[in-house]
Amino acid sequence: MTAGGDAATVMRRCDVLGAFSEEPGRLTRPFASRAMLQVHEQVTLWMRDAGLAVRKDNVGNLLGRYESAGGGSSTLILGSHLDSVRGAGRYDGPLGVMVAIAAVQRLHDSGSRLPFAIEVVGFADEEGLRYGTTYIGSKALAGAFDVADLERADAQGVTMAQAIRDTGGDPGRLAEDRWQGGNLLGYVEVHIEQGAVLEARDLPVGIVSAIAGQSRYRLTFTGDAAHAGTTPMDRRKDALVAAAEFVMVVEAEARETDGLVATVGQLAVSPGATNVVPGQAVLSLDVRHADDKVRVERSDRLLHRARDIATRRGLSVESEPVAENRSVPCSPRLMSVLTQAVQELGHPAVTLGSGAGHDAVVMAGITEMAMLFVRCKGGISHNPAESVAEEDVAVAIDTLSKFMELLAAKS
Ligand code: GLV
Ligand code: MN
Ligand code: MN
Repeated sequence: MTAGGDAATVMRRCDVLGAFSEEPGRLTRPFASRAMLQVHEQVTLWMRDAGLAVRKDNVGNLLGRYESAGGGSSTLILGSHLDSVRGAGRYDGPLGVMVAIAAVQRLHDSGSRLPFAIEVVGFADEEGLRYGTTYIGSKALAGAFDVADLERADAQGVTMAQAIRDTGGDPGRLAEDRWQGGNLLGYVEVHIEQGAVLEARDLPVGIVSAIAGQSRYRLTFTGDAAHAGTTPMDRRKDALVAAAEFVMVVEAEARETDGLVATVGQLAVSPGATNVVPGQAVLSLDVRHADDKVRVERSDRLLHRARDIATRRGLSVESEPVAENRSVPCSPRLMSVLTQAVQELGHPAVTLGSGAGHDAVVMAGITEMAMLFVRCKGGISHNPAESVAEEDVAVAIDTLSKFMELLAAKS
């Protein structure tokens, strides 16, 4: 590690990665992009410095392995994602990978090995920016990837299969990406909180109790494109006006339901000309709640309301489910080891839920998982203003190191 301590190095590395983007002037790093390949080149060097043996799998996860002492055959996986949303902050994802590398670096620098191996993973896609689906990388590692998704096309018409080929992977061999390294001790992910709970309680880190479920849909309102100057208002079938009414309904329903958050984050209007009444509007819908039953009920209700709006306006609407993830509890066993680690470092150990999705959701399908959140300035995330403090990152590295030490003592 370079001068200034390992937290300073993590901060600098997040800055460096934040510059690898597909768009000038803002951070946008989708699955299987040129920017992701640049990140892989850079992170590979840092992983090697920390004594990790690096490989890339077919889907595009970057994995670094630190072998155990004395032939211990279990593995602890640490990781987070290296892709981003559009106009992202630099910590959502990369922070967890950089903290994991820093914790391994400490072991490497002191010539220590643990009774278990450590695998640090930079996942290929958590955000779902390019293909709408989430967790492409962790699904491949967990053996939960649906090959039908390979046919999904991005906004330019490039299929996921082609994108994987373009970045050096083989879409026909994704089954080989599945974890084949034997017994797993667990998966632990460090992540920026993306909320303001820790800030309000003046705490550097917190232990996640569960991750809320989410449903994502694509809705297409279809009416009639028409002349904006000659079509009377009462003869229009304006798809955008229907979509706009739906957006308001989404907001109202979410406000009325305790704990529900629902978002329309994308809207594409066609034909898309000043003087043409919109004939089609395609929008995204993202619905989340800690209670799966409420999420499913409210999602169904929203789709129903979309149909009502379309019918009343003489349009049609089609809805397509794009992704669905259930709410997932964290492992009580790993949470208690994290709690002990945080307390031994002299901090109060608080637990908090996650409204954001994480690769840990998918990893929970193959092993126990836990997450450590790092305080986030103002709770701002999915925004370039996203910010963490170096002092808090230092606590996160210490906590992860202590966690592994405690786990080693118990194994
Ligand atoms: C991931 O950032 C999510 O959308 O929860
Ligand atoms: Mn995110
Ligand atoms: Mn994230």
